Amino acid sequence: MCGITGYIGYREAYPIVIKGLQRLEYRGYDSAGIMLFDGQDIHVTKTKGKVVDLEALANNDEKSKKGSTGIGHTRWATHGVPNDVNSHPHTSMSGNLVIVHNGIIENYDTIKKELINRGYTFKSDTDTEVLVNLIEEVKKTEDCKLGKAVQIALNQVVGAYAIAVFDKSKTNEIVVARLGSPIAIGIGKDYKEFFVASDASPFIEYTNKAIYLEDEEMAVIKVGKGVKVRKIKDDSLVDTTIQELQLSLEQIEKGGYDHFMLKEIHEQPKAIQDTFRGRMLADEGIIKMSSVSNHLEKFLNADRIIIVACGTSWHAGLVGEYLFEDIARIPVEVEYASEFRYRNPIITEKDIVIAISQSGETADTLAAIKLAKSKGAFVFGVCNVVGSSIARETHSGSYTHAGPEIGVASTKAFTTQITVLTLIALKLGKAKGNISQTDFNSYIQMMRLIPSQVEKVLESDEHVKYISSIYKDATNCLYLGRGFNFPVALEGALKLKEISYIHAEGYPAAEMKHGPIALIDENMPIFVIATNKGHYEKVVSNIQEIKSRAGKIIAVVTEGDTTVKEIADHVIEIPETAEALTPLLTTIPLQLLSYHIAVMLGKNVDQPRNLAKSVTVE
Ligand code: AGP
Repeated sequence: MCGITGYIGYREAYPIVIKGLQRLEYRGYDSAGIMLFDGQDIHVTKTKGKVVDLEALANNDEKSKKGSTGIGHTRWATHGVPNDVNSHPHTSMSGNLVIVHNGIIENYDTIKKELINRGYTFKSDTDTEVLVNLIEEVKKTEDCKLGKAVQIALNQVVGAYAIAVFDKSKTNEIVVARLGSPIAIGIGKDYKEFFVASDASPFIEYTNKAIYLEDEEMAVIKVGKGVKVRKIKDDSLVDTTIQELQLSLEQIEKGGYDHFMLKEIHEQPKAIQDTFRGRMLADEGIIKMSSVSNHLEKFLNADRIIIVACGTSWHAGLVGEYLFEDIARIPVEVEYASEFRYRNPIITEKDIVIAISQSGETADTLAAIKLAKSKGAFVFGVCNVVGSSIARETHSGSYTHAGPEIGVASTKAFTTQITVLTLIALKLGKAKGNISQTDFNSYIQMMRLIPSQVEKVLESDEHVKYISSIYKDATNCLYLGRGFNFPVALEGALKLKEISYIHAEGYPAAEMKHGPIALIDENMPIFVIATNKGHYEKVVSNIQEIKSRAGKIIAVVTEGDTTVKEIADHVIEIPETAEALTPLLTTIPLQLLSYHIAVMLGKNVDQPRNLAKSVTVE
């Protein structure tokens, strides 16, 4: 998730665009750049780092700050590590076109090869530089204006985008387009100035009049003339309404949600989709992950996989253990990185270590990686921050495409980590012949449904909020799950603990009778994951044991379940899916539950006491 912003009008563009980038930094912050057009020349300034680093660079070159047209970008890398050359804006080979882009062009390598055949050269590894040269090539071959060239070019790309494009030969306009990533157009008085941005935060102080593009729409914005919105598919004109925004700046940054955590819980359908986009090719019945394919023999011949992580990422690793052993039939051990690094573990060259980390900066996980490498193991990373320390330290890796996770409590990181682990397990399971093409295809079909099924679970938010209101004053809670959902029970307990400060423990449901059942009385809420897959009957009997001791039962069940509904005090339904995929759905109600309880208790949900988003110290 990157931030894009731009201005065209009568004011000095630099201060407006720079401030806009600062407002958008919550969307991505590994590099930043700005283009200014001074009426004569295009000046692009860009750098790895934050907007403050970009400002320092621009302050060294007054020329780069002149002009009343500008576009800017703050990057959350998905292709190409964060560095100066991969930062946006990107210019076309001629230098006449400039683009900023938020999204992923999945077929950029095919397009790049074709452009290279036509004599184009590239400076960066990004999909965005390919797109701006494709637009230039179309403009040249079709001899058309920028708007038409953008429309034709976008019909050749597969992926997600929000773009703003400027053409030096047509200086009174900016062209924008969107598919899957937001674009807002701020409209100045009498069309004398326009703003474009990923959300309204960069321009809300100048105008509250805005047009929000819908997916597969583009717009040609002309100073003094107005905005023409068209369908990308057929270039037909779209009748748009100008909205009068009532949101505060803070509300805009949180996407209208009260907290980043709630926004990120609701971003999970898109985050999961973005994570398997371009990797899970249902039509071809394959999973494309070069980071695994390039080391396939290592994975297939490994003695075992050791997963190292901390906190929520460790819980994702536990789900990975069930996935790899069930689907890929590879022995797995899951280790707390903080323990692994000090217990003098036995590691050989035949081991594969998978390090999972949202931030990519967790000190214990980084140390565990270094230890494993020193003993000859092959280390694979699953990170959310491109170019982070862990991403750079591992031999190979696969990024989650969750976008920046601002809330300290991990939510979309967890589900996107599980998504990556599922893709790897399926790829290895297929390569080892453990699952048939038919089973493989049905997993892919079910995985494609997960984003909409997560949306469906999110619709039960009011119901979960009601349940939260009943149990918000509990002092102790138990979370129980079996099989693939045992790690989800642990994760649910961690979520509650870390943002509401209520003590909670997760257990395998069958473990209850080995001690925790002594805790159960009428004051103890027990959250049980009782989907109709796996050992459903055994979970039902665990629930009956709890009921007979007056425990309060809140069960996460599969839609249509009537058995548990008879026994539990409350049920929250999730759609049916394969047992191996249920963690992607069962975790959602538990995230919402912990969120609502914490809010009702007046806790600081996004920055809970004593916690940091990334534990970069021991
Ligand atoms: C989870 O909600 C916490 N924020 C914490 O447990 C976190 O998962 C842990 O610190 C690991 O962080 P990482 O994924 O960035 O390595």
